[in-house]
Amino acid sequence: MADSFWSDAERHLIRYSGAGRFVPEIIERAEGSFVHTADGRRLLDFTSGQMSAILGHSHPDVVATVRRQVGTLDHLFSGMLSRPVVDLARRLAETLPDPFEKVLLLTTGAESNEAAIRMAKLVTGRHEIVSFGRSWHGMTQAAASATYSAGRKGYGPAAPGNFAIPTPNAYRPDFTDANGELDWRRQLDYAFDLFDAQSVGSLAAVIVEPILSSGGVLDLPPGYLAALRDKCHERGGLLILDEAQTGLCRTGDWYAFQRDGVVPDILTLSKTLGAGLPLAAVVTGAEIERTAHERGFLFFTTHVSDPLVAAVGNTVLDVLAKDELDRRAAELGAYLRKGLLDLGRQHRVVGDVRGRGLLVGVELVLDRDTKESSDELGGAVTRRCLELGLHMNVVQLPGMGGVFRIAPPLTSSIAELDLGLEILDRAIADVTSGR
Ligand SMILES: Cc1ncc(COP(=O)(O)O)c(C=O)c1O
Repeated sequence: MADSFWSDAERHLIRYSGAGRFVPEIIERAEGSFVHTADGRRLLDFTSGQMSAILGHSHPDVVATVRRQVGTLDHLFSGMLSRPVVDLARRLAETLPDPFEKVLLLTTGAESNEAAIRMAKLVTGRHEIVSFGRSWHGMTQAAASATYSAGRKGYGPAAPGNFAIPTPNAYRPDFTDANGELDWRRQLDYAFDLFDAQSVGSLAAVIVEPILSSGGVLDLPPGYLAALRDKCHERGGLLILDEAQTGLCRTGDWYAFQRDGVVPDILTLSKTLGAGLPLAAVVTGAEIERTAHERGFLFFTTHVSDPLVAAVGNTVLDVLAKDELDRRAAELGAYLRKGLLDLGRQHRVVGDVRGRGLLVGVELVLDRDTKESSDELGGAVTRRCLELGLHMNVVQLPGMGGVFRIAPPLTSSIAELDLGLEILDRAIADVTSGR
């Protein structure tokens, strides 16, 4: 049906993705691992929506919860409590090690980081914030001030006292040892030497993702997080871990920090917690919460402690536990990784395959030896994938090749992963055959 969809979109929508464009498809519905277009095609969703729909789209249990909850208790005055909220707080704490027992339920990832940073500033009485040069923590003021991968230019001053440290990247190491491998300890020491030179002695927090996703799916090397925590604590700061994408089973563990045995002071959760619905959380220990409260901690929003999405969060926890989706993510992740490594044997443009569980990065390069990057290649493969029925997302950052962020729902089947691998194989072949 020729209608005015695109002309209306062009006329009436504010374009919010920087240089990015809208995907040129009208999406009518989504179910499981697929989204369905207006012209009757189905697209395999290899990004779980915006890396959020870990149970696939319209999971029957989530649909049932939303239907029930919206008809009984949807939204409340922000100072009122309801059972889904207190249940979710208790149940989240039960999935986490000590000292995590205090939970603030919010709406988006940026908001959870905003609240965590405010809390860290209030509790430490300090203001400096350290994060990675390739970080993405969200679009609100404190979160954006700690975000370096995009969007800093043109919006006036960032919050004072924000510092970027280099992101460890094993594929493109900047500090190398005698074998040419990443020497992350030297890199980290150097980073904090520079920070110490600039700091006014007021570190409030270090905020990082355990696997940088928008930064190109860069996993922190084993041992890094512990060393970073020590650097942070030595300077009197709190460690905030942003598990927006990695929390709730995606990496094969319930939380990515479990691999490292490093418990942060404050944990933020978002995307995966609502599995497609807007739900986020800040989690911390009783001591930090008490100090914050004594100092009048304020984070009063319209949708704080909303029962509707809290009920969804409880259902997400039910499904994750019942279907053992941590184990499933590890198994599917291993399968996907093997398939991608096989692709790499056939296509020389596959420079690197990395990540953990079902958060996988594939970096495309023009030349494997020089690792020369290309601005066009990733975009061309993405477009060809879309034509062939696969939705992929490519991250394009300066100094890197195009990196596909592959994060299918944890409920995916092997057949769906095979379909994605097949399409990707064909798309790369089609795009590179002309080269
Ligand atoms: C690690 C991380 N933190 C925070 C955010 C921001 O979340 P939101 O877009 O829900 O505000 C994102 C979003 O991509 C993210 O990847």
